[in-house]
Amino acid sequence: MEKIEVSLEMMCYPMPCMILGTKVGEKANFMTVAWFTQISLKPAYILASLDKSHYSNPGIKETGAFSINVPSTAMAEVTDYCGLVSGKKYDKSTVFEVFYGKEGKAPMIVECPYNLECRLVQTVELAAEELFIGEVVAAYSDERCLTDGVPDMAKVDPLLLNVPQMAYLGVGSHVGRAFKMGKARIGKD
Ligand SMILES: Cc1cc2nc3c(=O)[nH]c(=O)nc-3n(C[C@H](O)[C@H](O)[C@H](O)COP(=O)(O)O)c2cc1C
Repeated sequence: MEKIEVSLEMMCYPMPCMILGTKVGEKANFMTVAWFTQISLKPAYILASLDKSHYSNPGIKETGAFSINVPSTAMAEVTDYCGLVSGKKYDKSTVFEVFYGKEGKAPMIVECPYNLECRLVQTVELAAEELFIGEVVAAYSDERCLTDGVPDMAKVDPLLLNVPQMAYLGVGSHVGRAFKMGKARIGKD
């Protein structure tokens, strides 16, 4: 099979589309983040990569807190909006209904079915970005999105970003059981 070298912009895809919430001064601000990942379980650390120019960054550093909110596909337009306009120019504090969790520092979005309340533990500086590492102090889910007490992706219906086609996607169909289906192959190669 012939391989063709392609653009680096499509390194990772699809990517999750999250909305990061933080307080800047007295107001909540929300920005869209696709450069986001879990990096450990115990402690529960996540990482979000933010360009240094964003309005959100000083808010995260000042409050030591931020939230990650998972929008459903029905929220694609407002998610895109939060990624198009900056809090420097537009007041995004009234775009969503806001709630606060245990620590009361990071604004979270009621309309998003799943929310992570995070405490900033480390900031890593790159040339153009800041990597914010947060400890998840609590996760919240809409009751309607739970199956047997755990968040059910089919019900959350999260939004994904497909960079090569610059499109938003929903998740696809169930393919198999993770950490299980590969066992059938062990010792056969
Ligand atoms: C789909 C999408 C994903 C984005 N992902 C990121 C990201 O991971 N990191 C980043 O720095 N900016 C990202 N952006 C851009 C910011 O969300 C955007 O510049 C926003 O206006 C910053 O808001 P603020 O200045 O109010 O903090 C993304 C934008 C969109 C539309």
